[in-house]
Amino acid sequence: MSSLPHPRPPVRTSPHHAVHPVLHLARPLRESIERGHPWIYRQALKAPPDLASGTVVDVCDRDGFVARGLYDRTSPLAVRAYTLDPSEPVDDRLVERRILAALAVRRWTMPGLGRDTTGFRLCHGEGDRLPGIVIDVYGPVAVIVTDGEAARSLLPSVVATLTRHASELRITTIYERHQRRQGHGGGLLWGTTPKLPEEERGQHPLELVIREHGMKLLVDIENGQKTGMFLDQRENRRLIRDISAGLRVWNGFSYTGGFSVAAALGGATRVVSVDRAPAAIETARRNFQLAGLPVEAHAFLAEDAFQALQRAKSQGELFDLVIVDPPSFAPTQQAVVGALAAYRRLHEMAIDLVAKGSLLAAASCSSHIDEKAFLSTISDAAVAKNRAIQILEIRGQPADHPTLPAFSEGRYLKFILCAVH
Ligand SMILES: C[S@@+](CC[C@H](N)C(=O)[O-])C[C@H]1O[C@@H](n2cnc3c(N)ncnc32)[C@H](O)[C@@H]1O
Repeated sequence: MSSLPHPRPPVRTSPHHAVHPVLHLARPLRESIERGHPWIYRQALKAPPDLASGTVVDVCDRDGFVARGLYDRTSPLAVRAYTLDPSEPVDDRLVERRILAALAVRRWTMPGLGRDTTGFRLCHGEGDRLPGIVIDVYGPVAVIVTDGEAARSLLPSVVATLTRHASELRITTIYERHQRRQGHGGGLLWGTTPKLPEEERGQHPLELVIREHGMKLLVDIENGQKTGMFLDQRENRRLIRDISAGLRVWNGFSYTGGFSVAAALGGATRVVSVDRAPAAIETARRNFQLAGLPVEAHAFLAEDAFQALQRAKSQGELFDLVIVDPPSFAPTQQAVVGALAAYRRLHEMAIDLVAKGSLLAAASCSSHIDEKAFLSTISDAAVAKNRAIQILEIRGQPADHPTLPAFSEGRYLKFILCAVH
């Protein structure tokens, strides 16, 4: 059992009496904060104070109160705003209101929630006005990830809300993913390891089977990437399932084969899954078995996707649908130029495998690369390969990954389906 951070000193809840340190903006950020951009960098503050992470602060400009947020002593993001209402305290009740509002939105926008779809993002941090806090639900387990010391100071409030609403959420377990980069432990925060019927159990207590539009997928909450899987591609996997009948599919950067299982269930005749993580490829194979699909009809390759593309080209292989969903090539703004070149190279290699008149699905999860720039990497690749492309669909992340108008960083996922002639 990992220990929770020490509770903050009790926040006085009477708005009329609560007095918080006041920080003054050195830049004209009022409008962008009011339109939903909750980040205030240290250099945007006049005289950043020496306060403990998690201290509630009021941010003001010449015209007065702008926002109330939490101070982070160590992060370049000195303050994240949690409310624009000067009478709203940042306390347990705010956390509960935000999580319940997020749940209500999921219920409206995800009709099969809890039945056909049991893996979803309950809280998408900034997009759900709870900056730095992500909560993913996998069947009976809620998995929390916090970003930074300030957000982590709200962990006790998040756990209190989830336990209070555990029966409504149908969860028995709360787990915190360890964040090696941020040096905190993770582990079980509440409940026991999930008690599941045989058919929903994986190979260890924190691996379990979830459903996504009825499709079963294994999720390893302890060792999997992100919080266990890439929930943000759910609706794009559904699209792939809908269009795959009779197709030969090559799925690069496949992770545990979400797109691959979707394609095979949709009637693809052969699916090649490629990921450099051997454990992910092994899980992809198990996901095919779980879905009752014949593994011998498909290929599972634990190798570098660029190498696999090269080899397939040299062997003259062609596919009717090529999917490339690599990890972020641009983790920072400085990496953008190199990342665009890498996307272009990847798309050139992917186009080489697309049979004439067939499909390419290209994704990017780099928030620093916008849709226009990403599209240009596909278009440049097509020109370089002397192929004509049609854009069939431009998609992004699903409704359980909402964003706020001014917070373009939140709209990170691009998924573009093209026909390649
Ligand atoms: C964004 S995830 C893909 C998610 C997947 N499409 C899904 O639906 O679950 C990117 C994957 O690329 C893999 N990866 C990273 N670099 C790679 C490389 N050079 N070759 C092959 N796979 C790679 C990672 O192991 C990770 O599983």
